[in-house]
Amino acid sequence: MHDLDPVSNPSDNRTFEDVAAAMVSRRGLLAGGAGIAVLAFAAGTEAATARTTASSLLHSGGGPGGRGRIGFTSIPLQNGPTPTISPEYEFQVILPWREKLDGSGNSFDYAGFTAAEQEQSVGIGHDGMWYFGDERRGVLCINHEFGTNGHVFGASAPTSLEQVRLSQAAHGVAIIALEKDRRRGWRIRPRGDSRRIHVNTPVTFSGPAASSPLLKTAAGNSPAGTLNNCANGYTPWGTYLTCEENFNGYFGSTGAWTATPSQARYGLSATGFGYGWQLFDPRFDLANATYANEENRFGWVVEIDPHRAQAKPVKRTALGRTKHEGATVVEGRGKRAVVYMGDDERFEYIYKFVSASNWRSMRARGISPLDEGTLYVARFDDDGTGQWLELSTANPALAGWTTDQILVNTRGAADLLGATKMDRPEWIAAGRNEEMFCTLTNNTRRTTPDAANPLAPNPDGHIIRWVDSDRHTGTTFEWDIFAISADVTDGGGQMFGSPDGLWADPDGRLFVQTDGAQPGGNNDQMLVADPQTAEFRRLFTGVTGCEITGLAVTPDRRTMFVNVQHPGDGDPALTNFPAPFTGAAGPIPRDATVVITRRDGGIVGS
Ligand code: FEO
Ligand code: CA
Ligand code: CA
Repeated sequence: MHDLDPVSNPSDNRTFEDVAAAMVSRRGLLAGGAGIAVLAFAAGTEAATARTTASSLLHSGGGPGGRGRIGFTSIPLQNGPTPTISPEYEFQVILPWREKLDGSGNSFDYAGFTAAEQEQSVGIGHDGMWYFGDERRGVLCINHEFGTNGHVFGASAPTSLEQVRLSQAAHGVAIIALEKDRRRGWRIRPRGDSRRIHVNTPVTFSGPAASSPLLKTAAGNSPAGTLNNCANGYTPWGTYLTCEENFNGYFGSTGAWTATPSQARYGLSATGFGYGWQLFDPRFDLANATYANEENRFGWVVEIDPHRAQAKPVKRTALGRTKHEGATVVEGRGKRAVVYMGDDERFEYIYKFVSASNWRSMRARGISPLDEGTLYVARFDDDGTGQWLELSTANPALAGWTTDQILVNTRGAADLLGATKMDRPEWIAAGRNEEMFCTLTNNTRRTTPDAANPLAPNPDGHIIRWVDSDRHTGTTFEWDIFAISADVTDGGGQMFGSPDGLWADPDGRLFVQTDGAQPGGNNDQMLVADPQTAEFRRLFTGVTGCEITGLAVTPDRRTMFVNVQHPGDGDPALTNFPAPFTGAAGPIPRDATVVITRRDGGIVGS
């Protein structure tokens, strides 16, 4: 989403002034290599030796398909109101904002659109998603991250509770029963139980902090809603994880209010991002003492069972409270469930949760693998190694903290452990050979580089990579920088900026989606990279003002779903997507999902 937050991390963790000079020389090395962004070595014998270890480990991948993983024609950067795709591919647009969930294919009108209608239709701000089904029929869970008031109801501030409810209903998650019709392609299945989860849907808390007084209000209102649902995850047991990112922006103050240190650490402010919900809904009014702690009920990873409409979404407190970008689940040693998570703000951290034991046996005992385990935060050392620092009462650095305090004020606890401040951690992808990749989208405010964030400022971002020392369950790891955006070039120059969405397919292809300034002021895009050769090709470009985000595939990977978010930033003068462009008098652009297939029916990305 748009970058609306200033910096909320005032701690003085890890500044590495002493490695700045080394980073200059590292940057020089990275700039070489004709369009290929590969690991280079930091200056200094000791660091270089360690980095050799990291490098040889990280590049030991291989296996079948090392050559020719990406066979499609890379397309040029594009500007303008219409998407473009590689010539070997085609796409269909489905699920535009306001489409009715009943499978009729009709949409509610923009004029006079109501909260009740929004609750029965596709939300706005399509973001992370995952597909649970087969090649013809399944359930697509889509995050609806955000829509500005201007886009949703054509005014900057609400003038009624109805408008607030409309805005709230536009946010959340859509659970879409989808089918592939022989003639019409993919569509919402009639009578398929498609449903919406939004800001007023009942939810529940689970895990160590579930009963914490920090999650209770004097009003006694039951927990409800999820919002700013950004990226996502999916579990080996078939559930969907939706992640609450910039929750702070929806709170505001109607009167005298001063932020507590914890509130300040999460960027809560009197105006928020200007949604104005606090004007008509006291839940979001920071000045209303009756609802104190309501803000602690957001900032979580939320588990949803796509196939059980009656089950409440569950906020998993063991995973901590941050501005969660995503939650990438892998199976670690002993079949533990391991969840990697980025906290997307400038100078925030990367986290890992490891379940207490084998996820299958935990579930057999009626325990969620996401409720019992250990939470860690990452420190990236400049020798190419790193430490997972334990966020628990067992860590002497957190003496005096209770478990629920650690889990509710996770950022504050992580500050005390000396975690590494990163350049906005966005999505995390699980590649082959236990390689994990994380997009660090950009950080224009960095003034001091460190090894893991070597550019200051860093307007275009980079992608970092690590391998855990013990199959995702260790307390150490080795890392390198997979790509510096500014150094990834083709014949046309720099290929992308601000990497955000990220997913690795089982063959090792890395899908990179962008959100932010692109070279030449062009549209956001999706590229495919081969981690072994560091080759990037451009598969898809969006429309003016949009972001490309979210990715899901059918099991055969011959159908891929990708989202076009905030096309034209809601301005019909820029695009009428998905309608053909007719200009300012045309339809308001609508967030929507794009279904991508290879014309020859091959695997998407090949
Ligand atoms: Fe919602 Fe960090 O993107
Ligand atoms: Ca994002
Ligand atoms: Ca972003």
